[in-house]
Amino acid sequence: MQKREMWGSRTGFVMAAVGSAIGLGNIWRFPYMVYDNGGGAFLVPYFAAMIIAGIPFMILEFGLGKKFIGSAPKVFSSISKKWEWLGWWQVMVSFIITTYYAVVVAWSLNYFILAFFQGWGTAPKDFFFTKFLAVTKSPLHLGGVQPEIIIATAAAWFLTIFAVFTGVKSGIERTNKIFMPLLFLLVFIFIGRGLMLPGAVDGLNWLFTPDFSAILDGKVWADAFGQIFYSLSIGFAIMLSYASYLPEESDISNNACMTVFINCGFSVISGIMIFSVLGYMAQQQGVPISKIATSGVGLAFITLPTAINLMPAPIFFGTLFFLALSVAGLSSMISLNEVVVAALMEKMNISRKKAALIFCTVGFVISIAFTTGGGLLLLDIVDHFINNFGVLLGGVIEIIFVAWFCRIDDLRAYINSSSEIKIGSLWSISIRFVAPAMLFFMLVSNFVGDVSKNYGGYSTAATLAFGWSTLFVCIAFAAVCSRQNHAFALIVNTNKNFLKRR
Ligand code: PHE
Repeated sequence: MQKREMWGSRTGFVMAAVGSAIGLGNIWRFPYMVYDNGGGAFLVPYFAAMIIAGIPFMILEFGLGKKFIGSAPKVFSSISKKWEWLGWWQVMVSFIITTYYAVVVAWSLNYFILAFFQGWGTAPKDFFFTKFLAVTKSPLHLGGVQPEIIIATAAAWFLTIFAVFTGVKSGIERTNKIFMPLLFLLVFIFIGRGLMLPGAVDGLNWLFTPDFSAILDGKVWADAFGQIFYSLSIGFAIMLSYASYLPEESDISNNACMTVFINCGFSVISGIMIFSVLGYMAQQQGVPISKIATSGVGLAFITLPTAINLMPAPIFFGTLFFLALSVAGLSSMISLNEVVVAALMEKMNISRKKAALIFCTVGFVISIAFTTGGGLLLLDIVDHFINNFGVLLGGVIEIIFVAWFCRIDDLRAYINSSSEIKIGSLWSISIRFVAPAMLFFMLVSNFVGDVSKNYGGYSTAATLAFGWSTLFVCIAFAAVCSRQNHAFALIVNTNKNFLKRR
């Protein structure tokens, strides 16, 4: 029997898990979430969500992956053949995310080069929408492909698939062992100089001054849980796949805690980086910070370039920022790739290299749609639907299935048998009640929101064609794959007894 690949070291595994967790979400989403939800007071629900749901869910995914040794479909199929579809659903969600994540990384790589000469010019907003993306009026009109974007997209695919192609230890682990320290270094250098800028401290005061009335607002709590789930890459089957390469005697709960703490610590550091820049920019332009704080695409590709233009050392800050953004994005993309490649390898019983090539070819072809003039709008719709429904639904079903239909106390005993930190019944309570309740609440409120009003003011045709239909494609794909009767290669641990008998 072929031997399963393993991580080379504990640090290597944690770096890879952290590499997946730290991504665009930490840099462009977290700071704005804090700002928008009552400043420093948001940190209370955020850290509460981290402890009550983030750490328990991470331990659960690590535990499942290590116990059942496989990618998501194989893990669920080992528990019960009837549940294999859930794994495929998560694989499909990861696949779709990769196709546009690659393009966002491509924008970032382009901006890294532009940063050497502030190629975005004196009007970064016009540059971004009109010249760089050539945005069309509707997602139904794609327009032409943007050459620089497609080239960089190919580079993002090449770099990340190369890591996956080369193998768990010599590819994924080695790349993350270079990328993660590099990322921290870049951000620390940025902050080291950034905090000395005039106005920077005002930015931090804005970010961290608490408005405690926000704590009583349900939306703030939902945002905190949403940020935790997305940022930790849980519910995507990623952590489950990564943990399946852990050697037998490895620790689970301490590794999970480390991954979570490093990720959340990095988010706070990113908040300091972004808001020191916004504080400086507000002072230079004489406008309040509230006018310039944004998140997502606007923050990274419009606000930051505008700020960089005003800075004393624009090349220094610009290249550091966009290199950091690219590295954070690439390491997350590697983990998305691995989910799909591992599932293909195991289901079709093919080699890693073959699975990587099939996946990367299909994935790159789909990515091309996002490199066109309609790409940004398309991406906006697909991202909204995939994150608000695809990921949440996968996460909620996963946690309910495991916590309510499986012998969760057996899993807890299994986790404790090899972990430094022993988990008690509070863990079971969290994954039986708190985490599913929060996920469910978010899911229902998103659903009500999207059914009552078309997302982002797009036409019904566009939301149907690219939003809702994406979800149907995921369901159909999951159903078809799980009906294929290929046995999984290398089934090591079939444990039907894990399912509760009723
Ligand atoms: N955790 C990543 C972030 O914070 C996002 C992500 C989720 C990436 C799932 C890959 C897979 O940006």
